[in-house]
Amino acid sequence: MTQSAVDLTAPCPAPLPELAGNATVRESAVVTHHGAGPDAAWWRQAVIYQIYPRSWADSNGDGIGDLPGITARLDHLSRLGVDAIWLSPFYTSPQADAGYDVADYRDVDPLFGTLPDADALIERARELGLRVIVDLVPNHSSDEHAWFQAALGAAPGSPERDLYMFRDGAGKHGELPPNNWQSVFGGPAWTRVIGPDGRPEQWYLHLFDPKQPDFNWEHPAVRAEFESVLRFWLDRGVDGFRVDVAHGLIKAEGLPDAQERTTMLGDTVSDHERGDIDDTDDSGDGYRVDTPYWDQDGVHEVYRAWRQVLERYGAPDRILCAEAWVEPQSRAVLYTRPDEMHQAFNFDFLQTPWRATDLTAVIESSLRAADSVGAPSTWVLSNHDVVRHATRLGYTPGHRVPNGISAGDPQPDRALGLHRARAATALMLALPGGAYLYQGEELGLPDSTDLPHRLRQDPTFARTDGAEIGRDGCRVPLPWVSGAPGLGFGPSAATWLPQPASYDGYAVDRQDGVAGSTLELYRSLLAARRDLSLGTASLTFVEGYSGDVVAFVSDAEARDRVLVVTNLGAVPVALPPGSEVIVASGPLVDAGVPTDTTVWARWA
Ligand code: NOJ
Ligand code: CA
Repeated sequence: MTQSAVDLTAPCPAPLPELAGNATVRESAVVTHHGAGPDAAWWRQAVIYQIYPRSWADSNGDGIGDLPGITARLDHLSRLGVDAIWLSPFYTSPQADAGYDVADYRDVDPLFGTLPDADALIERARELGLRVIVDLVPNHSSDEHAWFQAALGAAPGSPERDLYMFRDGAGKHGELPPNNWQSVFGGPAWTRVIGPDGRPEQWYLHLFDPKQPDFNWEHPAVRAEFESVLRFWLDRGVDGFRVDVAHGLIKAEGLPDAQERTTMLGDTVSDHERGDIDDTDDSGDGYRVDTPYWDQDGVHEVYRAWRQVLERYGAPDRILCAEAWVEPQSRAVLYTRPDEMHQAFNFDFLQTPWRATDLTAVIESSLRAADSVGAPSTWVLSNHDVVRHATRLGYTPGHRVPNGISAGDPQPDRALGLHRARAATALMLALPGGAYLYQGEELGLPDSTDLPHRLRQDPTFARTDGAEIGRDGCRVPLPWVSGAPGLGFGPSAATWLPQPASYDGYAVDRQDGVAGSTLELYRSLLAARRDLSLGTASLTFVEGYSGDVVAFVSDAEARDRVLVVTNLGAVPVALPPGSEVIVASGPLVDAGVPTDTTVWARWA
């Protein structure tokens, strides 16, 4: 058995404990969510797998993943059973933020390949029945983008400067930033330009790194340019866009001071863990409704225009998915009104502590919020910006999980984390709506938690003087082949970040065909989800279990009703009589569901 495998066939290790809570289990009288039905558009139920190109597979041995590397291994994903892939940026970029700093939106960075390589990838995906979503980064470009270079070379007040957010400084000689905004990566959100005569002059805004200047989205040329970029990729055959920082494009008029500093994304997790976030109001995390650079009403006009661009391509639907860290849910779902985006990431779900009452509450509120605008909810547990869920869940709920873990931090319980991660994923994939997977989670991969600081590349580490460890730990190249140089990441031993020794045990070939491995669990879950139409089913919560259990029935009418039980309590719970197990995230005890385990069962 590999390190990451859980053997579902192992005999029960101890005498059966008393099974709790099966006598009174019954469906609630209230249906929480009515299913989209069998004719629903593909994106209302799709499972979309995120590929982080630099870390998926390397074709030329330089240690950095690339497009030909992805194309060569796409069959891993058709076998896994996902519907689509989302590629993080592969465009021309100096890589100051791993490609989220785009210098040319219409070309491929030589690091990742060429435009024909992108075409070949799209074509191969099509052959395999996989749709392709690409990343769009509209809030900011690279400082090496031709427009920004022209702006730097032009005078204050020029049309070139008007495409970005240049302002005169405050203070007697303009020596102070125009306002108090702070960069998400740490430090001020303004950098002062040095003029051709060597003298400091205006400042420009960058909500992220200084190499990521913010566009001026009030300018019609910026709007026209991005509509043209959408068409460029749609014409090449992509099925949609994941929209970076979708809540950031429009800034409040007059650029007033902000009340509070915005923190890195991962910190919101710890805020939830500490209980500092009250989801019922607007306050509590860095991305607040009243922050003058987040979630301004004007962003919606932009997305309404984009929706029209996409609609012109007809069937099948091309989609937009918002990366919008917006609270509360009632504001977040505005991005998915019928004439705007199709989906938005459900970061509330990702941030929910491993507690049954919290999970039940977030599932219910997410479905109700999405239903209020007629959109599908989405579900996500990991991505390239947060600590992987197999690691996050290896801490006791309530422990502060920072944005990145270093060797000096308390280390997670890896076995516990994996056990819970499998249960969390099995819960997620049973839910109606779309789901997003992050590369490597199908292997049960944990974060690298002991990277040497000198190798860290996430700009947030340097910009906060190491106070924030950053996101490198979840971006380490994937292990494909146990024992091979670079664990089969490419044809050489090179990997742009070192792989921890433990990754050998998670390699694809160690899990392929191994009963109970995490890879086989994901394959089983995805196949059953499709067979049972769980993505378009109705959801009704089940009553009668203790508060340590999440339980609901998924009913797709034409299919068997599926009972989903996740037990977070200390004692096993029984399934109702007559139920028949379809898939389980870990070993069962005499048809009972033990701690940190999810079961899907047919329920007549
Ligand atoms: C969100 C992306 O997911 C993240 O990786 C990036 O650093 C920021 N947006 C800035 O583009
Ligand atoms: Ca490469």
